[in-house]
Amino acid sequence: MSTGLRKGLTSYGDAGFSLFLRKAFIKAAGYSDDALDRPIIGITNTASDFNPCHGNAPQLIEAVKRGVMLSGGLPMAFPTISIHESFAHPTSMYLRNLMAMDTEEMVRAQPMDAVVLIGGCDKTLPAQIMGAASAGIPAIVVPVGPMVVGHHRGEVLGACTDCRRMWGQHRAGKIDEPEIEVISGRLAPSVGTCMVMGTASTMACMIEALGLSLPYSAAIPAPHAERLRCGEASGRVAVEMARRKGPVPRALITQASIRNAMTVLQAIGGSTNGLVHLAAMAGRAGLKVDLEEFDEIGRRVPVLIDLKPSGDHYMEHLHHAGGVPRLLKELEPHLELDAPTVLGGTLRDYLDLAEEVPGQTVIRSRDNPLKQTGGMAVLRGNLCPGGAVIKHSAATPSLLQHEGRAVVFTSVEDMTNRIDDPSLDVNADDVLVLQNAGPKGAPGMPEAGYLPIPRKLAQAGVKDMVRISDARMSGTAFGTIVLHITPEAAVGGPLGLVRTGDRIRLDTANRRIELLVDQAELDRRAEDFKPPRPAPKRGYAKLFHDTVLQANQGVDFDFLTGVDDEA
Ligand code: FES
Ligand code: MG
Repeated sequence: MSTGLRKGLTSYGDAGFSLFLRKAFIKAAGYSDDALDRPIIGITNTASDFNPCHGNAPQLIEAVKRGVMLSGGLPMAFPTISIHESFAHPTSMYLRNLMAMDTEEMVRAQPMDAVVLIGGCDKTLPAQIMGAASAGIPAIVVPVGPMVVGHHRGEVLGACTDCRRMWGQHRAGKIDEPEIEVISGRLAPSVGTCMVMGTASTMACMIEALGLSLPYSAAIPAPHAERLRCGEASGRVAVEMARRKGPVPRALITQASIRNAMTVLQAIGGSTNGLVHLAAMAGRAGLKVDLEEFDEIGRRVPVLIDLKPSGDHYMEHLHHAGGVPRLLKELEPHLELDAPTVLGGTLRDYLDLAEEVPGQTVIRSRDNPLKQTGGMAVLRGNLCPGGAVIKHSAATPSLLQHEGRAVVFTSVEDMTNRIDDPSLDVNADDVLVLQNAGPKGAPGMPEAGYLPIPRKLAQAGVKDMVRISDARMSGTAFGTIVLHITPEAAVGGPLGLVRTGDRIRLDTANRRIELLVDQAELDRRAEDFKPPRPAPKRGYAKLFHDTVLQANQGVDFDFLTGVDDEA
């Protein structure tokens, strides 16, 4: 029997009185005893006027409620923080852990037997899973789904790979002011998440592969009726999970399912952010993401999904081509099929649903991949003792092996102030270096790793350069960009010791990135290290600064990882 309203009755030291009070108050909302005496399914409400990606959350909540009630449960929606990429200052990553804490504590505090997590914009799904994993009750994810594509002058457009491409053309003087204004109304034509293989799509695909959401849930477009049916079905499953008292997220996030998620991340040419969020979700289950293993998976698992920014198509096309189940079928020899799922079975059940779609070109077969290897490689070298990552599937092949002169920017502000200065001493062969943009440095590890091409070079036709930093990059971006350099400059990492004029060698084939300066000189520079800014004295900024972990540990707070003692 479900615990329902009786869950967590510890207040007042009198369980009977506490239940009586709960009933008295909830009856104020018009509920009958019969309605209250059944499994209670919490539903996160992350609708916000500041989050257009979640614009369909209200309808999805209604669909989930319908599913819960059809299965004999009582749905209870409750608000949590919502985070949109473009409306979260200084960066959405800075707030992800706050959303995870909010979700964890609200799920734990309120009486519910299972929870349905409705989210989607980049940081929201990882935050919700981190929170639910720590709260330890059965949870199922319902992504809000991707936007449908936009059209402009006969061209298909998508947020936000084409936002960057179009803006680049505007910066280079090829698109004038009136046209770029028109384009701004066509890049994101519906509710839902960015429809390229950016972070939101990446997370939705990985979460489906982790068995935390229903088959097909990643790619059904946000405005489609099928998205609502997915919500209804998820509500039904949540009631079953409440009755079975499981599985809880920690039972689904295992070493095997993490490997499956890494395999999918490589095969979709996914966002580099996916790696950080996977490390954070794994950390909540007391597990680690092994970067060497991730690199090794990338050497044998090719990119199979032909989506921007690595390929040509968009998420709705992935859905029409068979979605994640079809991809999983293609990846079958690389997957651990006994990994459990929210449905109570194993990942094999998801593969069994895979449909053959004649003529589709979005999900490639293993013998005709989009790229011969996976999307990302892990780099090591004297610049990044704790590792760094490069999304080589979205890079310029000729730059993957490159040696050049460093042009250093000491902060995001410094870069913003100088990158377009006509007197900046920079050539196309140089390596642009951004320091102090990591977890503590910026703070919040902003997506500043996609340094713009200096305007004078962009106008001369330069489209890509080697760029390196301790920052992140949007999953919708492209270029020869080394990210997540660990340890970051702001904690004394070697990245902070680079000076303009030094030589840097990127050797992607051998997974190396080296600063070609001798160790004695680096030791001398290290003696002059000073943190780039004073530590914050109060509030969330202080908590963040004092406890945030490095990129290879998921940028979670040190006190939130692992498993509760009593669990
Ligand atoms: Fe929300 Fe891209 S801005 S998913
Ligand atoms: Mg993004």
